[in-house]
Amino acid sequence: VKNNTALRFSACWTEQPSSCLKEQGYEVITFLANIGQDEDFEAARKKAESLGAKKVFIEDLRAEFVEDFIWPAVQANAVYEDRYLLGTAVARPCIARRQVEIARSEGAQFVSHGATGKGNDQIRFELTCYALYPEVKIIAPWRIPEFYTRFRGRTDLMEYAQKHGIPVPVTPRAPWSMDANLMHISYESGILENPKSHAPGDLYLMTKNPEDSPSVPDVLELEFRNGVPVKVTNVKEGKSKDSPLDIFSYLNEIGGKHGVGRIDIVENRFIGMKSRGIYETPGGTILLQAHLDMETFTMDKEVRRIKQGLGIKFSELVYNGFWYSPECDFVRFCIAKSQEKVEGKVQLSVFKGQVYILGRESPKSLYNEELVSMDVQGDYNPCDASGFIRINAVRLREHHRLQGFSSSD
Ligand code: ARG
Ligand code: SIN
Repeated sequence: VKNNTALRFSACWTEQPSSCLKEQGYEVITFLANIGQDEDFEAARKKAESLGAKKVFIEDLRAEFVEDFIWPAVQANAVYEDRYLLGTAVARPCIARRQVEIARSEGAQFVSHGATGKGNDQIRFELTCYALYPEVKIIAPWRIPEFYTRFRGRTDLMEYAQKHGIPVPVTPRAPWSMDANLMHISYESGILENPKSHAPGDLYLMTKNPEDSPSVPDVLELEFRNGVPVKVTNVKEGKSKDSPLDIFSYLNEIGGKHGVGRIDIVENRFIGMKSRGIYETPGGTILLQAHLDMETFTMDKEVRRIKQGLGIKFSELVYNGFWYSPECDFVRFCIAKSQEKVEGKVQLSVFKGQVYILGRESPKSLYNEELVSMDVQGDYNPCDASGFIRINAVRLREHHRLQGFSSSD
């Protein structure tokens, strides 16, 4: 069931739920967000119309997805459980925000989605809906007993589709569930549920296997302002991009070409169970490395430490579906404040699944060449270091003394 439906449901709240909704007497308006997934939008429109949708909304949200959702994640260095770059989690509030806008303007009292009852996505979609449209009522078919007992598997769904003239692909999709957008593709379920089994080589759609990637690197220069990229230049080719969507798409292209950003992890879902997921986030991975570099170069040490903690908090909030919450507003505000001086250029090489930082420059740099130089005195008195070290040693000497005392006791 999941294999056949998750990809479509993730971006499109139509399909089976909508035809079942019609069956139950609802008037159905469908909404499909283009957030960069590879999808035949016209076919989706025809399908929704042929199934009797009252209105069909298909909207290109790619630019706002990058600017309003991916960029804050870049500023935060957002990573969940040390590895997952949150490509699905950041897309959900973007989709749901527009969905409730449409629901409101169309006077719809209900919204529906096709996420399963076991995952994170149901929480992310619904928390966003409640936060932005508090009176809304939600229909989640995969949590309605009449629905999930009626469609126990793929065959049941196929039969239902045939009976009701719902066009479905005859050839089965890959034996796993995918969620694709501009930022990443995630793969889970099906044959991937056994955490020991390796992902087949042909699973990855965004990135090349580093074993087959070019033997010559691409060298990029990324320019940041306010902690977000404003320009990317391919140094050797002299080609550059400067709109958020173009920058991000270009980084995906280069990252994909060199096999950057593949991970295979077991993660903790909000709902309390573990899940095995495979992700490819090519552009996001390049940006994370470049941004980390620009940040340490321009940010005060203690501010950075506090901000790092906020980034972890932000990642958890976003993973758990709390993008629209007072605490996430607050954390995003603080993180944005920390980015005011994160400005400058990073040069890096993308090669064989890796991002290698080559150098950086910034008008806001806190790096003082004279101060750090081994050859110049600068505004620094080496004698001061003796006292600094001795003061720091007070505690260590006390510790040693007490240890010695208790062991001879
Ligand atoms: N586990 C990931 C998350 O919670 C991805 C979920 C969607 N993936 C999917 N294949 N349907 O963000
Ligand atoms: C789903 O349950 O629909 C996908 C997986 C998830 O949300 O965690």
